Formats: sequence, structure tokens, C-alpha cells
Amino acid sequence: MPKTNETIIELKSVSKIYGIGDAESYALRDFDLSVKRGEFIMIMGPSGCGKTTLLNIIGLLDKASTGEYYLDGKSVDHISARKKARFRANEIGIIFQSFNLIPNLPIIENVSLPLVYAGYHKTRRLKRADDILERFHLREREYYMPHQLSGGQQQRVAIARSLISNPSIILADEPTGNLDSRSSHIIMEELRDIHSRGNTIIMVTHNPSLTTYATRVINMLDGEIDTDIKTVADRDLPRPGDPERISVRVLTKKRQLTPTEDTPQNDTSQTAAATKKASSNKPSATIIKSAKSAKSAEKAAKGKQIVHSLTKKTSKNKQKEL
Ligand SMILES: Nc1ncnc2c1ncn2[C@@H]1O[C@H](COP(=O)(O)OP(=O)(O)OP(=O)(O)O)[C@@H](O)[C@H]1O
Ligand SMILES: [Mg+2]
Repeated sequence: MPKTNETIIELKSVSKIYGIGDAESYALRDFDLSVKRGEFIMIMGPSGCGKTTLLNIIGLLDKASTGEYYLDGKSVDHISARKKARFRANEIGIIFQSFNLIPNLPIIENVSLPLVYAGYHKTRRLKRADDILERFHLREREYYMPHQLSGGQQQRVAIARSLISNPSIILADEPTGNLDSRSSHIIMEELRDIHSRGNTIIMVTHNPSLTTYATRVINMLDGEIDTDIKTVADRDLPRPGDPERISVRVLTKKRQLTPTEDTPQNDTSQTAAATKKASSNKPSATIIKSAKSAKSAEKAAKGKQIVHSLTKKTSKNKQKEL
């Protein structure tokens, strides 16, 4: 097993431009992002700063105007629509704020839908959907229509659907945005469990309290990264098939990361100074990119209080397979 998890997503100077001439505007501007397998990244930032645009590009639902995108080490900028669809079907699960279930299909068929694109026969599709719905305690409702379920149940169905083809990357755009706090909590625990098995999650949220689930918090502003803070070292991220380390949970106990634990590629003297400053205050985190504005700096300082650690899995879910 390698010492640190490999890079699974890499964006290099990606821009997304809408409009032309005077009406030209950047939804993303020269965006660099490197994501390791096993990271749980929360993306935050004001409305219109480019969060959904970023997720759509990562999820191959949209194409960058300029820049390079490497998924699992392979360039995906010029691959055919068919190959993109195959990547999406096998590698990436997407969860939306509005659930996006098909209203006139029963739950079990909604959940099995990604397997249609992956080329599975109907009997196998329904069997897999039935199995995953059991895990989500929704089996007794599998022949209900979406409108017969609560918002929280519909989002759990949407998560089940995003997981059915066993993707290693989960993209979630405000998955708890339409839910009450109890349902949000259930969804977040589900995502935590998925993450603890070594999956990579990138989630957009407007709710700062949810960042306690993340191993890295990125704040965006005007299509760029404003702050980027890792709270778990790369070498401590969960990995698939490594039962000794498959649980990440928030600890009250403080844990110090040294500035050298994660060596950011785009390290600058400014970042190094920010990192040094971070490590002088406990609890600490690795700041990859420091805040551009005073207000953001304050936010970054708050983010630094989020302390995570990896522990050995003790729950009975230890052996559970996705
Ligand atoms: N199809 C489009 N045509 C033109 N402009 C667009 C289009 N889609 C997005 N934009 C613009 O790109 C910018 C980023 O939009 P995006 O949806 O990514 O923001 P967001 O951060 O997800 O916002 P929110 O928090 O409100 O969901 C916005 O200024 C938006 O108006
Ligand atoms: Mg959005």
C-alpha cells in the first residue's frame, strides 16, 4: 500500500467563461485544484462564486473554456462524449440539492438508473438497487413513487442512486440545502460513512457547521480559491481496503499537523508564512492557500479550529462493503 493516497482529480488553470465581448464573465478563473483519493472537501463561498460550475466540470457535466483536467491521471479534455458518459457511470456519483429523482419512476427504478448507462441487464439492475435500498433502510418503500417520500428520504434515495455503480468520487451540490436539521444530520452521517471507506467526496455547502465533516475546506470568491485549508494530512486520509484506517471522525482532542505533512504544489512564501502562523496556534491545520481579504482571513482562522483525526474503526459497519 503506498504511503499517501494518489491524486485523483487535477485541474490546471481551468477557466469557464460565459458570454462574449463586453458581456464576457468568468464563472471560474485560472482555477488550480489537486485532490487526493480519500479527501472529503467542502466548498463554500457566496452565491455566484462558481461552486456549481466547478462541480459540473469535475463531474464531466460541463466543459471548461480553457485549462486542463486530469481524472485519475488521464486527460479528459478531449475524450469523446461516450467515454465521458462511461467515466460518469463508473467513477462519479452526483448528488443534487433538489434530489433530481424522476417523478414517474418508482424508487427502485430511479436508483437503478445509472446501471442502464453502465449496460447492466434489468434483473441485475433491480437486484443491485434492492440491495442498496436495504442498506439505506428504504427497501419497504422501493415501489413507492418519489412524491410519496419525505425530503430526507428522497435525498437518501438520491445518494443510493449515486452509489449504485460503486463510484470512487462523490460530488454533492448542497445535498442538505432543502432538508431540516435532523434529515441533514442523517445525510451527513451517510456521507461520513461513505468517506470512511476511502471514497473521495467533494461537497458544496452554505452551512459552515457541516465543515466539521471535511478533511479540507475551500472557500471560493469570484471564481477563484480564496482560502484552502487541510485539516487532515494526506498520509492520514482513509484508503479503500485498509480496515485499520477507515474511520475519520471529529475529535475533541487536539492534533498537531506539522507544516511539512502536506507539501502543497503551489506553496509560496506567503502560504508558508500562513502555515507557520497556523501551526503556532493549537489546534492546527495546513493552510494551502491563505485568505486574500481580511474578512476571509478571519473565516480561515475559524476554519483552522476544525480538528480531525483518524481512528481505528470500531463500529459494526467495519466490514460493510458498498
Ligand atoms: N449557463 C450560464 N450562462 C451564463 N452564466 C452562467 C451560466 N451558469 C452559471 N453562470 C454564471 O456563472 C457564475 C457562477 O455560477 P454558479 O452556479 O457556479 O454559482 P454558485 O457558486 O454555485 O452559486 P449558488 O451558491 O447560488 O448556487 C454566476 O455568475 C452565474 O450567473
Ligand atoms: Mg450552485
